[in-house]
This record gives sequence, structure tokens and C-alpha cells, in this order.
Amino acid sequence: MRDLAELPHCEACALSRTRTRVVIGSGPRLPGLLVVGEAPGRHEDEGGEPFVGRSGQLLVRLIRDELGLERSQYFITNVVKCRPPQNRTPRAAEVTACRPWLAAQMERLAPTMVLAVGNVAAKAVFGYTQGIAHTHGRVARCDEVPGVATYHPAAALRGGPNVVDVMRADLRVLRTLGG
Ligand code: URA
Repeated sequence: MRDLAELPHCEACALSRTRTRVVIGSGPRLPGLLVVGEAPGRHEDEGGEPFVGRSGQLLVRLIRDELGLERSQYFITNVVKCRPPQNRTPRAAEVTACRPWLAAQMERLAPTMVLAVGNVAAKAVFGYTQGIAHTHGRVARCDEVPGVATYHPAAALRGGPNVVDVMRADLRVLRTLGG
């Protein structure tokens, strides 16, 4: 298991050469819920905190509405901890290089449920091979911990209210897992 103390200095892939900082994640030490996105964007790379841009604001609002949780009550991170240049989709090799950090975070945080946000996260977290259109809203497991995948809020910002409705329904599936 990787030592999380080394995460801020990680050089496991080439993203380490273009990042401003490693975006580790934020939240309580023992959250019930772990939220996993794709990779940091520009604001996150600059500030060091995940999901602070427009996508993040939408995601936080939907989680508050459907699960009754404030941002301070869950841990939020990404599969890939460093920003890909021009916000391109992380490459398979980058996901593979970074995935052990998520395993270490799972062990440290011991969440009781996991939300994967977007296609890249859904595949990396739950091992899906199909795209998010087929996998969202189903109960799956990550290292034995139950969870659900949903669309990325950036897709909702592009795709309008319909995607938001689907995300809300997926979050209500997650709510059925919560204790
Ligand atoms: N999109 C993500 O997937 N993660 C972030 O932290 C910001 C935007």
C-alpha cells in the first residue's frame, strides 16, 4: 500500500511535470461518503482543492439536495490527482499510475459508500468497461464498499436539465445505501 505522506511529491507519471500542485482531496478524517471525480482542472490545480469550479458547485448542490450532506461532511477527491494539460481526459497510463493512491485513501478513510463522478472515475473506481450511459445508477463495489456512478457535472452543465435529473436519480440510489 502506498504511503499517503508521499503523495504531494509523487512523480509516477508525466503530469507531475506540468502540475502546479497535487490535489489530494478534502474532507473529514472518517467520512461516510467518498466522492471521486476525474482529475483537477485549472482552479483546482491552482488552489489545491478538488471541485471548486462550476462543476463542483453543481455537484455539491445536488449532493446537498438529494443526500442532505454539506461539503464538509464527505471526502472529495479525484482518480487522477494532477491536472492534465488543457484539461484533456486523463490517459489510461495516468489513471493506472495514480489508482494506487485512491486505494490508499480508501483504506485510510474507510468510507461506507462511494460516489464515482463521470466515465473515467466510474471505470477506475468500479472496474466498469462500459461507458457511463450503461453504468450510472447501479449499485457496485469498490474494495467491498458499495457505491454508485453518475454523470460528471460538466456533462450536466453542457447537457442541460435532463442530465441533472439523471444525476439526482443516481444520488437517490446512493441514498438507499447510506446508514
Ligand atoms: N472535475 C473533476 O473531475 N474534478 C475536479 O476536481 C474538478 C473538475
